[in-house]
Amino acid sequence: MNGEQRINSLRAFLKDTRRKEFDFTKTEQSLGLPPPHVQKPYARGAAFIDLPDPHGSKDLGRMSLREAISRRRSRRAYNPDPLALEELSFLLWATQGVREVAPGRVLRVVPSAGNRHALETYLAITNVQGVRKGLYRYLPLDHRLVLEFEDEDIGDRLVPAALGQSYPAGAAATFIWTAIPHRMEWRYGEVSHKVIALDAGHVCQNLYLACESIGAGTVAMAAYDQEALDELLRVDGSEEFAIYLAPVGKV
Ligand SMILES: Cc1cc2nc3c(=O)[nH]c(=O)nc-3n(C[C@H](O)[C@H](O)[C@H](O)COP(=O)(O)O)c2cc1C
Repeated sequence: MNGEQRINSLRAFLKDTRRKEFDFTKTEQSLGLPPPHVQKPYARGAAFIDLPDPHGSKDLGRMSLREAISRRRSRRAYNPDPLALEELSFLLWATQGVREVAPGRVLRVVPSAGNRHALETYLAITNVQGVRKGLYRYLPLDHRLVLEFEDEDIGDRLVPAALGQSYPAGAAATFIWTAIPHRMEWRYGEVSHKVIALDAGHVCQNLYLACESIGAGTVAMAAYDQEALDELLRVDGSEEFAIYLAPVGKV
């Protein structure tokens, strides 16, 4: 394949032409196979951190939507103040929180193609009140964190994985989103992958706006070393892999 052909095949990712050829009667869903989990399971005996009720604080997120949108910008420098657990809870709810549980479906505060929600949220926590440094994962169904592993240096270790971008080292927490493509492929097969990327954009935009509303800031980051980040997260890089990250801190 020459350079132009490669570009054209990559551009095809953004188009929806394969939908015409794709046989939707052959998807796992159409074949009657059970759906993948809506939340990645955690190890037996795992340690959890309960998060405060995201609707409990009357003060968080009161900024008008107009103001939050007007103020939004990418913020790469943070002050050393910690994030309160209540603030982190609010940001997690704003990005992946559950809006409604109905028979056979769980709706969240963000949209997702076919409501498939193929993303998981990992958090590299370095400066959150009452939380030891390390890697955690958000459990939207339970609105709590599961500890993946403690790591005093998690912020610094993200820097090489982010191709030398230093912002995660100064952040209070870095959100890292992985994709579990099978959740989308179960319904949409080979036309799944563009919509997974689109879904991630909604999530990160909510993070930007929610951060602005609490005096914090973030920056979307898509430049990273795939293998290094997957290794840091201890995900397999095939059934689950990182696609996007965003450090967060007070500004
Ligand atoms: C998909 C995406 C990927 C991005 N990746 C990076 C990145 O890796 N590093 C970075 O410093 N900024 C990154 N940015 C932030 C952009 O540079 C920023 O949005 C742009 O310069 C406009 O600035 P503003 O967000 O303040 O309006 C990314 C933004 C998006 C939407």
